[in-house]
Amino acid sequence: MSRKRVAVLISGRGSNMAALIDAANAADYPAAIALVVSNVPNAGGLATAAKAGIATATIDHTTYGKDRAAFERALQDVLVQNRIDLVCLAGFMRLLTPWFVGQWPNRMLNIHPALLPSFKGLDTHRRALEAGVKLHGATVHFVVPEMDSGPIIAQGAVPVRDDDTEAALAARVLAVEHRLYPLALRLVAEGRVTVDGSRCRIGGSPDPDTVLLVPAGHP
Ligand code: GRF
Repeated sequence: MSRKRVAVLISGRGSNMAALIDAANAADYPAAIALVVSNVPNAGGLATAAKAGIATATIDHTTYGKDRAAFERALQDVLVQNRIDLVCLAGFMRLLTPWFVGQWPNRMLNIHPALLPSFKGLDTHRRALEAGVKLHGATVHFVVPEMDSGPIIAQGAVPVRDDDTEAALAARVLAVEHRLYPLALRLVAEGRVTVDGSRCRIGGSPDPDTVLLVPAGHP
């Protein structure tokens, strides 16, 4: 089976990108990280990717001023030039227009640090603590024009502890993200994910691991 060529789009430290690169180093992984693109020139993840021998590109949105369309055309050009099959957003802090999203129907994934549809947007861990939820986590979903929406591919849940700080909760969720994103990308790259309206159905195995439940005390 030929491996899917994946571009990871980042804006910052790129720890989820690093988790995808690690996973794709396994010989039996169905995807290869062919390109990392950042919209922020000094994003920490660019150096991590380069060290891992991955091609990188920077498309600095600030050089396009308010012209979001021109920024996205440049982004699309680099993806096409690199013969990309699948796009993974990993801490990519730009809202994407319906035009760009429309170039990647069910071929662009995002990871969000909450159990969607709860806590869309930013500051998810602070808001989860404020809301008093007992379960929190992360979601990988296909990207649709509406932010932090789209069919859910996989989710991972962690407990919220009574003495949690925002930082402690964020670290627990991030550890789950690093397991969840490679798992979700594997399912998509293997062609096992079918989108049926707002739901993803996973074929090929009677009991696919699309749910990670991380019990108290771990990690
Ligand atoms: C992660 O928490 C991800 O869920 C969110 O942005 C953060 C990016 O972190 N979308 P990193 O750059 O992958 O370390």
